[in-house]
Amino acid sequence: MDGYDTVAAVTDRTFRSLGVVGAGNMGSGIAQKIAAEGFDVVLVDLDDAKVARGVESIRRTLADGIARNILTKEAAAAILARIHATTRFEDLADVDLVVEAVFENLDVKKDVFAKLDRVCRADTILATNTSSFAVSDVAAGTQLPERVIGLHYFYHPAKNRLVEVVAAARSTPRSVADAWALQEALGKTPIRSKDSCGFIVNRFFSPWLNEAVRLLEDGVANIATIDAAAKWGFGIGMGPFELMNVTGIPIAAHTANTLGRAFGPLYALPDPLRQQFESGQPWSLEGDADVSRYDAVLDRLLAAVFYVAAALVDEGVGTIEDTDIGARVGLRWRRGPFEMMNQRGVREAAALASEFARRWNVRLPDTLLRQAASNVPFRLQLVTRTITDGIATLAINRPDVMNALNEDVMEQLGDLFFLSADDPAITGIVIAGTGKAFVAGADITFFITNIKSKTVDRIVGFTSAGQDLLLAIERCRKPVVARVHGLALGGGVELALACHYIVATPKASFGFPETGIGIYPGLGGTQRTPRRVGKGLAKWLVLTGQIIGAEEALAIGLVDLVVPYEQLDKAVRELVARGRPDDREPQSVPASHRALAEFFERIGAEGAGNDATLADPRVASAVRRMGSRAPIAARIASELIDRGTGLPIEDAVRLELERLEEIFSTADAYEGLSSLGTRRPVFKGA
Ligand SMILES: NC(=O)c1ccc[n+]([C@@H]2O[C@H](COP(=O)([O-])OP(=O)(O)OC[C@H]3O[C@@H](n4cnc5c(N)ncnc54)[C@H](O)[C@@H]3O)[C@@H](O)[C@H]2O)c1
Repeated sequence: MDGYDTVAAVTDRTFRSLGVVGAGNMGSGIAQKIAAEGFDVVLVDLDDAKVARGVESIRRTLADGIARNILTKEAAAAILARIHATTRFEDLADVDLVVEAVFENLDVKKDVFAKLDRVCRADTILATNTSSFAVSDVAAGTQLPERVIGLHYFYHPAKNRLVEVVAAARSTPRSVADAWALQEALGKTPIRSKDSCGFIVNRFFSPWLNEAVRLLEDGVANIATIDAAAKWGFGIGMGPFELMNVTGIPIAAHTANTLGRAFGPLYALPDPLRQQFESGQPWSLEGDADVSRYDAVLDRLLAAVFYVAAALVDEGVGTIEDTDIGARVGLRWRRGPFEMMNQRGVREAAALASEFARRWNVRLPDTLLRQAASNVPFRLQLVTRTITDGIATLAINRPDVMNALNEDVMEQLGDLFFLSADDPAITGIVIAGTGKAFVAGADITFFITNIKSKTVDRIVGFTSAGQDLLLAIERCRKPVVARVHGLALGGGVELALACHYIVATPKASFGFPETGIGIYPGLGGTQRTPRRVGKGLAKWLVLTGQIIGAEEALAIGLVDLVVPYEQLDKAVRELVARGRPDDREPQSVPASHRALAEFFERIGAEGAGNDATLADPRVASAVRRMGSRAPIAARIASELIDRGTGLPIEDAVRLELERLEEIFSTADAYEGLSSLGTRRPVFKGA
């Protein structure tokens, strides 16, 4: 094992119904999210009025979703129907996990946990959403502290994906692993925090707010300037003062008080914040921003964050990567603290943080000192390795960009893959994504940047190295399994196809969007797809960009197995035990897809697209979809599929490299890539 490895318990627990205690701001949102993901949920509060208020707030959020066309009336009704709102704790008797979200008062929480002890099954996991108490303290009064953990959600918990998963002193690894898997199944982005006051995110967020207040106190700038500078520097929609007005000055004051008690004056409540809290008034945001003060403001805000982020890593509260993910996903900062330190240069970051440390008469954390001494950027581990029972799981850990592949990810994936392939103690390798997606393709910004700077050769280099890695995966003597939960698009499908087995959850989906953005799959998609599903269906997938669900992927042979989320680990272990499969023949086309396969088999050949199969509604819809694709990309992709037939895979994938310069130099590629996510591209066939 190397320094990046973690050990995790295997999880195969089935969660059927869940409970939430406290139907306030957090509890109602948590219950809504759970129900939206298809689980039954029991929501408990003290009296009927409070229960009704919680349900009403869920109803309002759902109505908003309907108004914004992101939810149908039927889906909203189904979500509400899965929520059983009640005042009876006894109704929690049969739930698998309970999240406590009652007032932030230790006695109230302990009392709730004592009740849960009495009413819940002995194997029910009990989680607290406390923001400021130690999970161990909340657990202290229970009969079975082993099953108590922390699940710290962020407002609004039905929308904000971040959750800090906290192991308390006595929590079993199994409880933590099961709860973690459940968060992923719920589409959340979990990060792991030690049971330490403020966990990861509030630990640096609160000092960031405090520093904003102190900038005001020290007369460095007015509120309008501080907010504007923070918005600009951190890439956020609201500055610290506006944010405090919206989320509540009492919460900000309470957090600072708690952290101050735990970690000393640097974290404590600044006087102006105390006064504002006592006045009961929001901050006045009036005034003009003074651009000339932005740098002075930013340097101090960054200094506070750099210092605290490094300190929490020193203390083992969280990793560098989880700290960054916490900032990006939980607070929606453009970059995490460590990415910002790298951007600034670690020496300069350390110099800024030293100023802050000097003001508070504290020592610079070792994490930052060491890095500054070496003067190389922090290495952000974008792929993690977990070894369980001799199986190495390599998980791409960029959940906020759906684990998109870039040069760093591919390099780290390669390093960990070869490390695992060469280690005699490892019997199988699993490739997975963190969070709600497997891999949603390659990093589009990398392509755009290189097209603009006329360095398409870097795209060719990236693709060629990627092909090498995928060939090595395919040739590996140990079984390699792709573990697909959520979206697998483009490069994600190609990565999965290089593995010996693909096991997916019902929430997985697969597709090749490339020809819709002016390019074609370059990591073996035009070659390995036909080897799995036959030429006709491969052309259908690549030339139409049709996204298919897990069951359809199973039916046509694109994946090997579909199992519920909680059985993924078990399925993976069984596949590893089976060993590497022999060379596979494409699966025969199921009746449901025969017309499609026949139609697309003939694409590129003479007389294609002019026959009886067009009467088939799926073929007709596929033809319509093809109409919106980039014509050059589609033509090359079709040719590549034809030319690769019968070639050894090593030669076949190289065909994809030959046309890359050409495709990335087209106007359509630039149009398709740069329009992604903003508008429908207009392709000119040039
Ligand atoms: N608000 C946030 O942004 C935020 C973020 C993360 C975590 N938290 C934490 O979540 C918890 C809840 O916060 P909130 O903002 O939702 O509070 P809230 O005041 O909106 O809701 C608390 C709810 O708990 C209910 N309650 C109180 N005692 C109860 C009991 N004994 N049995 C059943 N229900 C009871 C109350 O009636 C109320 O409806 C706190 O621990 C808080 O620190 C809050």
